[in-house]
Amino acid sequence: MKDIQNIVILTGAGVSAESGVATFRGPDGLWEGHRVEDVATPEAFVRDPDLVQKFYDERRAKLKTVQPNAAHQALAKLDEKWLGDLLLVTQNVDDLHDRAGSQRLLHMHGELNSAWCLACDVRSPFDEVMAAAPACPHCHQPSCLRPDIVWFGEMPYGMERIEHALAQCDLFVSIGTSGAVYPAAGFVQTARHYGARTLEMNLDPSEGSFHFHESRMGKAGALVPDWVEEILRDV
Ligand code: APR
Repeated sequence: MKDIQNIVILTGAGVSAESGVATFRGPDGLWEGHRVEDVATPEAFVRDPDLVQKFYDERRAKLKTVQPNAAHQALAKLDEKWLGDLLLVTQNVDDLHDRAGSQRLLHMHGELNSAWCLACDVRSPFDEVMAAAPACPHCHQPSCLRPDIVWFGEMPYGMERIEHALAQCDLFVSIGTSGAVYPAAGFVQTARHYGARTLEMNLDPSEGSFHFHESRMGKAGALVPDWVEEILRDV
């Protein structure tokens, strides 16, 4: 892998599946019983804030019961050892990459353990129950927090940094994402446009599978550690 300097990795729900976090579109997916429009749009939050807060409170509580798996750990090892540029962009709102130790990490769809205050506009670490209408940790105003999650119809975080990294990368790797949600689903095309090699690792072919130079099908917990060993062999 001597010709590779700069890497961008995109992860989705599949990377956390083996930790016990439900994927979005799997048979036991989170949207079962909840339509996207009822829990993951700004309109839903205006219409029924209690339902939305409880939905994310449940997911935030669940985080305390799960652990990073071999895929998160291998990606953290790659981050530690890789001397070139590296950016791990995750669509996941869990904190499993963080807990595994990844540093060069961007949560493009926000984080469950963060609260966005609609009164003072400050985002603060938060790991409790938002439906209980706690005060903002920053401005102390009550009942003004919303989950710091990028909902459908909202701009993902860090797009400028991501687009810059995609334009500079020699290798783009997508792991555990169905490729159903843009703009993340389009990163493979952007990376290819700038000349990167592209690799996907997923349980089954994603919607944009044909855009990748190479696809490896299987569980992230097995595929990712093998790939990381492979790429670090020459470092
Ligand atoms: N290893 C690898 N891939 C897996 C595994 C596994 N153990 N288990 C499931 N997968 C794959 C599934 O086959 C599927 O293609 O992970 C993918 C998960 O897809 P989605 O559930 O659609 O999740 P994701 O692509 O992250 O969703 C993107 O959609 O609803 C929004 O904002 C939400 O960030 C989310 C975005």
